[in-house]
Amino acid sequence: MNKFIVTGGNTLRGEITVQGAKNSVLPILVATLLVNGESVIHNCPCLSDVDATIKILEYLGCVVTREGHTIIVDSSSVNKCDVPDNLMREMRSSIVFLGGIIGRMGKAVLSTPGGCEIGLRPIDLHLSSMEQFGAKITTENGFIVCSAEEKGLQGTRIILSFPSVGATENIILSAVLAKGTTIISNAAREPEISDLADFLNRCGAKIHGAGDSTITIDGVKELKPCEHTIIPDRIVVATYMIATVMTGGKICIKDIIPSHIGPIIQPLRDAGCLISINGRNVTASASNHLKRIRMIRTMPHPGFPTDVQAQMMALTTIAEGTSVFVENIFESRYKHVGELLRFGAKISVEGRMAVVEGVKALNGAKVKATDLRGGSAMILSGLCANGITEITEIHHIDRGYEKPEKVLNELGADIKRVNTDE
Ligand code: EPZ
Repeated sequence: MNKFIVTGGNTLRGEITVQGAKNSVLPILVATLLVNGESVIHNCPCLSDVDATIKILEYLGCVVTREGHTIIVDSSSVNKCDVPDNLMREMRSSIVFLGGIIGRMGKAVLSTPGGCEIGLRPIDLHLSSMEQFGAKITTENGFIVCSAEEKGLQGTRIILSFPSVGATENIILSAVLAKGTTIISNAAREPEISDLADFLNRCGAKIHGAGDSTITIDGVKELKPCEHTIIPDRIVVATYMIATVMTGGKICIKDIIPSHIGPIIQPLRDAGCLISINGRNVTASASNHLKRIRMIRTMPHPGFPTDVQAQMMALTTIAEGTSVFVENIFESRYKHVGELLRFGAKISVEGRMAVVEGVKALNGAKVKATDLRGGSAMILSGLCANGITEITEIHHIDRGYEKPEKVLNELGADIKRVNTDE
């Protein structure tokens, strides 16, 4: 296994661009199953979750080639509709293969994806949506068999009780080749939904309203291959902005989509950060000291993103005053709190609420990455702590950040990736 050794105290300064969005490339790679031919996807980040997705595509019969950050998927010879348990379990978000496989094959056999570090991750909304398309769902020793082989998927009206990102994606993937029209009410509005719709529309789909709460999809007969470039990763942009301001530095992140990071701008300004947006570039720096943020409530987009909760909490641990967090999206997304306490942070948690009392400084510690975003918060705290921080279980971080130590060291950080097997 690997670990990071972070020497704190350096100020981050510089200009970067960021990787393509993990939460966009995953559903778009699945969507290539629906396209009969060779899709070319640019700006794909090199992440273990992308590797896991490619393994499943190849198992299903796709021919996948990678040229740097470009992934080419030829799905002409897809000949399977099942995903083995070991491949399903490699990545929590593999449930989005449900819509891709049943949309192509008329049947999908998947094992129930396990929960993960941040919650049980139920799939009731996914399954009830499939039934509304006319699919029959049975479970056989841990596998879900979802079949619409008799009449095919029929367009329908689906009202989501919660704007689930994954369920919205699975509905779109199922609807684009279904018979008739599908209308989704209370759809997720995350930018990654719009990116998926942009890719599919470029292939000939008829999706309207992606990015809003109501999405209409008119089923078409077939989709043709196309080229697509993945949007920049807004969560990675937020992570590196927060890393910089925690060290008292200044960063310019180029070629982003400003509206995608809109929900985090005001909270960062409330914390005393100077944020300016110029075209597709964002600049962030810290005024002399960071201040508490009264209340951070995570909400579906365009509310404050749950995927930035841990990183923003790290910032508030060294801000003057007391900040309050309410995690409204996942039921156990505070596992990083125990690790932040090891740096000397003062945090108390009660259910979905966490109260952070800022301290003057953190001290380096031996910590572990509890999950992907909690792991990134460990790096952020290590960067501004006095002394040395050792972070283990960093495979969680590699799921969503492409070479974070390389990016941050180029900004002036001192992070070493050490292979502990040696
Ligand atoms: C996506 O997960 C993202 N993952 C998550 O990012 C992100 O945190 C989440 O959306 C919310 O924005 C990918 O896109 C690969 P949800 P997803 O379905 O689709 C409940 C990261 O760090 N729910 O919107 O799984 C669920 O339990 C990851 O990059 C049901 O109850 O999120 C959760 O409480 C973490 N039943 C809430 O909805 C369902 O059928 C949000 O889940 C589905 C979801």
